[in-house]
Amino acid sequence: MEKIKLFSGENLPLEMHKVRIVEKLNLIPIEKRASAMLEAGCNTFLLKNRDVFIDMLTDSGVNAMSDRQQAAMFLADDTYAGSESFYRFESKLQELFGMDFVLPAHQGRACENIISQVFVNEGQVVPMNYHFTTTKAHIQLNGGTIEELITEEGLKITSNAPFKGNMDTVALKQLIKDRGSDNVAFVRMEAGTNLIGGQPFSLENLQEVGNMCRKNNILLVLDASLLSDNLHFIKEREEKCKDLSIREITRKIADEFDIIYFSARKLGSARGGGICVRTEELFDKMKGLITLYEGFLTYGGMSVREIEAITVGLEETMDEEVINQGPQFIKFMVDELIKAGVPVVTPAGGLGCHIDAKAFLSHVPQVEYPAGALAAALFITGGIRGMERGTMSEERKPDGSETLANMELVRIALPRRVFTLSQVKYVIDRIVWLHRNRHLVEGLVFEDEPEILRFFFGRLKPTSNWVDNLVNQYKTDFKDSL
Ligand code: F0G
Repeated sequence: MEKIKLFSGENLPLEMHKVRIVEKLNLIPIEKRASAMLEAGCNTFLLKNRDVFIDMLTDSGVNAMSDRQQAAMFLADDTYAGSESFYRFESKLQELFGMDFVLPAHQGRACENIISQVFVNEGQVVPMNYHFTTTKAHIQLNGGTIEELITEEGLKITSNAPFKGNMDTVALKQLIKDRGSDNVAFVRMEAGTNLIGGQPFSLENLQEVGNMCRKNNILLVLDASLLSDNLHFIKEREEKCKDLSIREITRKIADEFDIIYFSARKLGSARGGGICVRTEELFDKMKGLITLYEGFLTYGGMSVREIEAITVGLEETMDEEVINQGPQFIKFMVDELIKAGVPVVTPAGGLGCHIDAKAFLSHVPQVEYPAGALAAALFITGGIRGMERGTMSEERKPDGSETLANMELVRIALPRRVFTLSQVKYVIDRIVWLHRNRHLVEGLVFEDEPEILRFFFGRLKPTSNWVDNLVNQYKTDFKDSL
């Protein structure tokens, strides 16, 4: 993008692709959006996609695939054992990460299940830059606990720090000293740290963590699901990496790790997952569970067509002009929202634009889920589906009290290369309107609250008749507009 300057001087995220397959969209009227939201228990996960106009719930499994990925799917080798598709996948991962052993799995959390079962023992701790919901759940299920060792900067909503995903290495050193390395199952780094707003770690920070792990004989594990955004930010923001290619940066990152796992619903822009390991010993520890839970070692629960698409997607991740598209659109959105006074996470990260619901709805107490309420209100306002990433995504404590999240975010994901600039502008417009009318939005209360990962299926209702008030104001302001 920065290579193409506009005469007007305007800074637009210019698409470096063209669209050749489209899906028709439909925007239902606001009254129907309100009733769809209420029927879905005010939980955007429970909406039917037919009622959604702009689906920005996630970038998982919904990034646009390239013509080359689609073409590769026709050449898939459909066999139970020994598929050529798997060997192409394996050799691409070996080439990119420099690790000899590859285990296929059906998606990211399947990798987390296997890794946690094999490496987490009762009472052990897993230090990490920051948790992801499914990661934490799997570690806890196996009797472990997690320690968030994100730097203080990482939890600040607004910041100029280029690498908010960095691990606090002083805290890591102390933790190893206090707990002893035998009680550390492994150290986990998450690329493009999801729950703090898609924020990257730096290569320098990672290398420090790597040195500490090697010195103390502790396994270092990478969650590479959001690696492509992290690669882009290292290239853009880390001085000493400016002249390295994306491929070289990838290898430098991989060199620090013993295990790399990923959701290929994100990395590789298809649907699947995988675990890459450095030694045969680690591979042997996990391969039995892959066949037990996922499938034979040459498909691991994935369709061979998806395996082919991932392989091409991984190679395309090495192209700067492919991986910079998401972050550029996100930056555009973040910049425009800041201009309009809407509180968002800064600096702009990967994955999506993250609205600070605590500030946006400062009158809604955290126990009434401001991020959940804002996500519901945004759908009603514009048919836009975002995701709650706050207290609703935490688990209630055994004594019945809430675990208040560090941040109350509504994530407006930008699936890569899916939405056009005018659609992004529409989303900005509706968020700004909602911000002007934020006093109308109030909280939510659970009606049905599952014990595990409650945010997926939990059903809530508004604490008052605020939905009606919002609809009425919208109709007053927008008249006959949908
Ligand atoms: N790790 C990270 C960092 C993730 O973002 C995800 C999924 C997973 C692991 C689990 O992978 O979905 O393939 O099982 N994140 C999705 C999201 C769900 O919307 O952010 P999965």
